[in-house]
Amino acid sequence: MKRVRKAVFPAAGLGTRFLPATKAQPKEMLPIVDKPIIQYGVEEALAAGCDQIIIITGRGKTAIEDHFDVSYELEKMLEERGKTELLSVVHQISDMIHVAYVRQKEALGLGHAVLMARELVGNEPFAVLLADDVIDAPVPCLKQMMDVYEETGGSVLATQKVSGPAISAYGVLDATLMDHARFGGRLYQVSNLVEKPKLEEAPSDLAIIGRYILTPAIFEMLEGTPLGAGGELQLTDGIRMLLSREKIYGYCFDGKRHDAGDKLGFLKATVEFALKRPGLGGEFRSYLKSLEL
Ligand code: UTP
Repeated sequence: MKRVRKAVFPAAGLGTRFLPATKAQPKEMLPIVDKPIIQYGVEEALAAGCDQIIIITGRGKTAIEDHFDVSYELEKMLEERGKTELLSVVHQISDMIHVAYVRQKEALGLGHAVLMARELVGNEPFAVLLADDVIDAPVPCLKQMMDVYEETGGSVLATQKVSGPAISAYGVLDATLMDHARFGGRLYQVSNLVEKPKLEEAPSDLAIIGRYILTPAIFEMLEGTPLGAGGELQLTDGIRMLLSREKIYGYCFDGKRHDAGDKLGFLKATVEFALKRPGLGGEFRSYLKSLEL
């Protein structure tokens, strides 16, 4: 069985929920405290054992490329001013890993964005991470999913229970809890996926979250998938076709997910990460308390 080495980050969406902030800068570069949201995802992929990062970019996304590149002027300036700590922070980013970029010329949907990575991924399993799902977990979410992949050999979708009408904002799993010695209580066998169902039509409360491990057969499926809702190529439609050929698992990961692609989710993530940050959290907590809301 091939190891999962490559992590694909679709980042070519329009980010309309964050306009006007995302008019000239990608939403993946919005910072939570002091780190762009995409860097949290890249660090998670590296911690899970991936050694190749592929970012799908669109128009106005050069800031992402610049972020992971060497910044000679900045580094020189920090060196001259003796700011060694900041210099190492900046170095760490460009030293992190080699990043490859593919352009998605038109935002034709998440499935289409993933299909753009086909040549760079080749015939091996790979991970897909949606950077705006920022996951705070004791063991990186993708690492938890890698463990499931290594044991089952099938595609793995991250899932989380969402109750009430909020489920309609997600892809939802029709799935059966598996009796599994190691992953019992968290591992599901998927039988179907429904994109953004009405509450009364949702097959379960298991929402699909932005972390996937997929086998390369997904590319063939996506190529054969007609455009779905909103004239977009939906990743969930491709995964549903894959179900007719392979077993697919849902994994209810241990950790807290923040939807940083949504304003309220972004603010919550900012507050929680700031409270946890050494050297900042204490004062920030006092400030929040002083607000006497
Ligand atoms: P979203 O559904 O969050 O869409 O995409 P969006 O355009 O980024 O943001 P809003 O809803 O307009 O505010 C989910 C993920 O899929 C990527 C996005 O970059 C995001 O990471 N995506 C979406 C693409 O790469 N290409 C697409 O054509 C669509």
